Order: sequence, then structure tokens, then C-alpha cells
Amino acid sequence: MNNGGKTRLELFISRVLGQCCGIDAAAAATEKLPGVVWEVGLGNGRTYDHLRARFAGRDIVVFDREVASHPDCIPPAAMLRLGDFRETVPAEAARSAGTVVMVHADVGSANAAASRALGRWLAPWFVQALAPGGYLVGDQPMDDAALEPIALADVGAGDLPPRAYFVYRKRG
Ligand SMILES: C[S@@+](CC[C@H](N)C(=O)[O-])C[C@H]1O[C@@H](n2cnc3c(N)ncnc32)[C@H](O)[C@@H]1O
Repeated sequence: MNNGGKTRLELFISRVLGQCCGIDAAAAATEKLPGVVWEVGLGNGRTYDHLRARFAGRDIVVFDREVASHPDCIPPAAMLRLGDFRETVPAEAARSAGTVVMVHADVGSANAAASRALGRWLAPWFVQALAPGGYLVGDQPMDDAALEPIALADVGAGDLPPRAYFVYRKRG
């Protein structure tokens, strides 16, 4: 154990609670804003399933290398952007600049340094895609002057370690 005294199970619980609270808060805050949702990192499809419940009626554009999700959580083919994020995200950001109300970016792997670097690289593309007032909820810190950080305590997750998950609102 070498993660601030937390076991991997405890870190996992913090992460999924942070996801759930962040996504729910973003859904409430963007209710009146028109636009689409991005799921960056389909994985097993757990958060995709949550997004389609909380953002019912909105298109959800989904990014990953491949579809390896639970059979109940396979997005429609027209909504899939398959390939490396470093290619698919900039291409989609150019197409949909300023029209995305919520980006959920769950992009991390077992390599913490590579995950941080990927998050830093993706942040400006997410800023380009987001509408003013749109939300970015993710597993990596994304420092950008256009993004106002929102504390986990302010999305109902105050009991979690401060860096369990990250929530931002695009200024404007
Ligand atoms: C932590 S998992 C996502 C879990 C998912 N949100 C869920 O709730 O089941 C991260 C996903 O990002 C994808 N991924 C990571 N780096 C990528 C990259 N550079 N390009 C495309 N996909 C990538 C992986 O294939 C993996 O499915």
C-alpha cells in the first residue's frame, strides 16, 4: 500500500463516488443548456450507462480505442469515435466546437504519469469543444485558464479526498 495510506479498493470507491457525484452535479447544472455530451473512455460502459440516464434525450458521443463494454452498454455505431484519443478528440473538437455541455473524461490507466500527461494534452481540446457554462468531469487534473475548478465538496462529495476526481466549469 503506498497511496496516502489508502488501499486500491478504497481508491476505487473514492473514484466511482467522485464520478457519480460529478456527473450528477454536471447534469443538474447544464439542464437548460442545449448541446451534446462526450464520454471519453468507454471502458466497461459503467459511466456511459450513468450518463445516458442522467442526460436522457441528449446525443452522447463516445471515444475509445475499441468497444469492450458490457453488452448492455454498447453505444450506437453513429455515436462512436474509435481510435487513439490524440486523433479522435481533436477531430471531433473541430467539428463540434462550443457545442458540448458535458465532457466526462475517464482516461487513466495503471501508469499514473502517462495518465497525467494524457489529461494535460487533452485539456485544450476539451476547452475548445465545451460550450460556455459546460462541465468537464474527469479522473485527471486539467489546468486551463478557461476552466474554473469546482471542489468535490460543492458537488456533494465532500467526504472524498480532494483529488479523488476533478470537476470544472468552462468560464463564460
Ligand atoms: C478507465 S477506462 C474507462 C472506464 C469507463 N469510464 C467505465 O466506467 O467503464 C479508460 C478507457 O480509456 C481508453 N483509453 C486510454 N487511453 C486511450 C487513448 N490514448 N486512446 C483511446 N482510448 C484510450 C481505454 O481503452 C479504456 O477503455
